[in-house]
Amino acid sequence: MSKKITPYKDSELGKKEQVTKMFDNISNNYDGLNRVISFGIDIKWRKRVVAILKNKKPDTVLDIATGTGDLAINLVETGATKITGLDISPGMLAVGKKKIEEKKLNNIINMIVGDSENLPFDENTFDAITVAFGVRNFENLEIGLSEILRVLKPGGTFVVLETSVPTKTPFKQGYNFYTKSIMPKVGKMFSKDNNAYEYLSESAAVFPHGEAFNNILQKIGFIDIENKPQTLGVASIYVATK
Ligand SMILES: C[S@@+](CC[C@H](N)C(=O)[O-])C[C@H]1O[C@@H](n2cnc3c(N)ncnc32)[C@H](O)[C@@H]1O
Repeated sequence: MSKKITPYKDSELGKKEQVTKMFDNISNNYDGLNRVISFGIDIKWRKRVVAILKNKKPDTVLDIATGTGDLAINLVETGATKITGLDISPGMLAVGKKKIEEKKLNNIINMIVGDSENLPFDENTFDAITVAFGVRNFENLEIGLSEILRVLKPGGTFVVLETSVPTKTPFKQGYNFYTKSIMPKVGKMFSKDNNAYEYLSESAAVFPHGEAFNNILQKIGFIDIENKPQTLGVASIYVATK
């Protein structure tokens, strides 16, 4: 299991409370900074998640850690009639709700405040569940994943998009330099929260990826697990079934 990395090292709050506070703090800059820091590649990765699910023709989709709602909005393309975006940060959701209203998607997408580790849904509710750049922020990864398994319908698909660390030289060294030296500085320049982009970089470095994450999914009870590394391995898409 990964080392516990939290946003505010001197804080007495638990990881969950710190993560909520941090995302509330950065919510208004999140979309813009995300594009800059990832050179816009995050858009392409979310589209890949949508393409995977489009083939499965889900009717109901839950996007956990939906944040400002980009993936939830993209998921409309799957043809789903009901998409629920859930997030623990009211600040991130407020930005997302505004985008959904502007796009007139309120009839399809519903955004709610909630905790991935205690999902407010019955078991076997959703045809598909997604989490983009969210699982590494969970306080207890295994509880969050077990909750996802519980509310997913049997045969339903779970897709995770998460950062990973390139394993090959020289990409590994380039990635380390970029995430440790450049990303936190750019984050500090443009974000209200000095710790946020340091936390995002540190948490990415220690989070289990590739085979290690596949093994966790298997241990929780998912089957047919596939890992699809993206862009030299700086992110990965995991697909699993209940
Ligand atoms: C890096 S953002 C990703 C947002 C969005 N999915 C995207 O692709 O841009 C991570 C999100 O996870 C949310 N989050 C962290 N822990 C959570 C939890 N326990 N339950 C629900 N959401 C959580 C945060 O509030 C934040 O909005």
